[in-house]
Amino acid sequence: MLNIRYQLTENLKKKPEKGQPLGFGKIVTDHMFMMNYTEGLGWHDPRIVPYQHISLAPTAMVFHYGQTMFEGLKAYLDEEGRVRLFRPDMNAKRAINSNRRLCIPEIPEEDFVQAVKALVKTEKDWIPTEPGTSLYIRPFVIATDEFLGVAPSKTYLFMIILSPSGAYYASGLEPVGIWIEDDYVRAVRGGMGFAKTGGNYAASLAGQVKAHNDGYSQVLWLDGVERKYIEEVGAMNIFFVIDGKVVTPMLNGSILPGITRDSVITLCKSWGLDVEERRISADELIEAQKAGRLDECFGTGTAAVISPVGKLRYKDDVMEISGGKIGRLSQKLYDTVTGIQTGKLEDPFGWSVIVE
Ligand code: PLP
Ligand code: COI
Repeated sequence: MLNIRYQLTENLKKKPEKGQPLGFGKIVTDHMFMMNYTEGLGWHDPRIVPYQHISLAPTAMVFHYGQTMFEGLKAYLDEEGRVRLFRPDMNAKRAINSNRRLCIPEIPEEDFVQAVKALVKTEKDWIPTEPGTSLYIRPFVIATDEFLGVAPSKTYLFMIILSPSGAYYASGLEPVGIWIEDDYVRAVRGGMGFAKTGGNYAASLAGQVKAHNDGYSQVLWLDGVERKYIEEVGAMNIFFVIDGKVVTPMLNGSILPGITRDSVITLCKSWGLDVEERRISADELIEAQKAGRLDECFGTGTAAVISPVGKLRYKDDVMEISGGKIGRLSQKLYDTVTGIQTGKLEDPFGWSVIVE
């Protein structure tokens, strides 16, 4: 149990107007959470302080070798005015796995969740309530040792910042176009694809720029070895509906084990749908689309929620899916996931956690 120290500001910022488009990750709230780690001392001095710049030496290790981890989750205000989080224990567990891969000391699950709850409670008035909006929560750890040698740092900073946000894609629930990248790769098995760490996103930028230049929103990565099998999108996991079956790439160590992915699989199974977690080649998708068997494609993620894909490009093939419109299952999943998250729908799996 953390003994959190509070240093609150009275100099509060102006909150966004009701109805003002928020975008994603552009606005920050009044306070942030910080906790230090020092070898021998462990994690210490948990505190909630005014949002402010931090000062680091140019030699701080995070700048050079990318020893860092981040997470993403959201807070919602329900109709009774209570704050709700969606499966925060899963983010805490994934943070532990990411930290292990990056030689960052683990943050105990209950401390991670306690810190998130404490900050969100402090910033409750920042939670937006317009449809499609939420308070995006970004916990992260950085290596702070002042040293240019390549080694695990002996000191770290764990921080949480908050951003009232709308849809991740400017197009909202309009289907996006996705570029299947056949040149660059994002991650390989044995690497750190399963971890949520900056380097994976740095590796994705060149492909993303290429896709954007061609008018596509995101990149769908292929496996790094054979460059044949579908992995995931830049900021979401990917699902297909083929012959009425829900198909998604299995977790193989090189893709992020998405919490929305896990929730979607659980929901689909509970609705009696066949769900397959397996290898899917890009060629299989093309064949299925040409034969009219590829009914839907959607991405899943905290920021992206359920994001329908209307167009997939692979080499010389451009495949249109669901007539470029949102598919039936994608819409049902969007409604159900957001309904549970905001407390509007029954929560049979106990995913929605009320912050007391
Ligand atoms: N894959 C990548 C690369 C991501 O950045 C994200 C976003 O967090 C996801 C998948 C989806 O994960 P989650 O549903 O836990 O947000
Ligand atoms: C999230 O969905 O929480 C993410 O971390 C995606 C992010 C890269 C914007």
